[in-house]
Amino acid sequence: MMASDNKRFRVFATARFGDPAENRLRERGYDLEVFQGPESPAKKLIIEKVKSGIDGLITTLRDPIDAEVFEAGKGTLKVVAQIAVGFDNINRADANKYKIPFTNTADVLTEATAEFAFFMMGMLARKMWQSERLVREHTWPSWHPFLPFLGDEVTGKTIAVIGTGRIGLAMIKKCSGFDMNILCYDPAYQNDKFIAAIQELMDLRHAKGIQKEKTWIKYVDLEEALGGADYVSLHVPLLREGEADRPTYHLINENTLKLMKPTAYLINSSRGPVVDEKALAKALKEKVIAGAALDVFEKEPLSADSPLLDAEIADRMRLFHHFASGAQITRLSVDPDKGMAGRTVQALIDVLEGNYGGDPTQMPYVVNKEAFK
Ligand code: GLV
Repeated sequence: MMASDNKRFRVFATARFGDPAENRLRERGYDLEVFQGPESPAKKLIIEKVKSGIDGLITTLRDPIDAEVFEAGKGTLKVVAQIAVGFDNINRADANKYKIPFTNTADVLTEATAEFAFFMMGMLARKMWQSERLVREHTWPSWHPFLPFLGDEVTGKTIAVIGTGRIGLAMIKKCSGFDMNILCYDPAYQNDKFIAAIQELMDLRHAKGIQKEKTWIKYVDLEEALGGADYVSLHVPLLREGEADRPTYHLINENTLKLMKPTAYLINSSRGPVVDEKALAKALKEKVIAGAALDVFEKEPLSADSPLLDAEIADRMRLFHHFASGAQITRLSVDPDKGMAGRTVQALIDVLEGNYGGDPTQMPYVVNKEAFK
């Protein structure tokens, strides 16, 4: 049903999400208001908009969405559509209590995020930032077999992939192409079929002479994964105490960092609070591990006094601005099978226009289906 056949749906978005996707809603007759600032709107403003009777709220991971917001929208708010795969900013129990479906953008950012994690690993290990700095600052004396520094190869090394959901599996796929051995750990579930398929591919590549060394992949426990890896890449959702049997909050802490080899590198493209940043900065200072690359932080944006910015560890610490899914098509395509913006809009339309017989449990992008069973 077109919006104009029924009523003009009112939607507030807490961030711009690109003309093509914004126009898709406007062309359907939606009354769409978009917060224009690059920063997130104050929660007070979000509540004010929700209270004014909007039907749909489009959010980003910067917006805290909880009972206060749902209460403000009682009787009017029908959907929260999040432009992200992660939704730790949305209180699921509160959404369920108020019976408000919320949606996310899984799948469309899987490959982009995994490739960024892979590039973070390469940039860290091969010291690309330090290399560019030498050239820019005219401090490169001459070509030399090992001076002023060397990097570490990725090819042929062992990676621990922590979390084997969509993005973890995509990371595994990319790492297998670099002849890496792969240790898998997942606190919640094991995708044995996928892992067996990768092993088959590894064996075939070896048999056909595409890779010289035989490589392997297997599920292990966390201790073995951390202890056996040259690279540790995090791909778990953020689950705090009480949200899961095995929470992931500060999964990487002073104790678990000590399980890693002193030559190993940590890569985090999942959620900041999965890593205890203070413990990480200390571990880098004390050379407990060789280096780390972070795309996400306990508090974003990273504050100027963060220990991660300590000049003493700058050569071992690569930092990015929560950018792993930040590629053109991935972020902005209006196609729900390609872009986060497109998927967000389709998710919102599904709920407001009653697609799938109006049953949220049948809507592909609704997360909290359990509230409607
Ligand atoms: C980004 O971090 C996302 O969850 O989409």
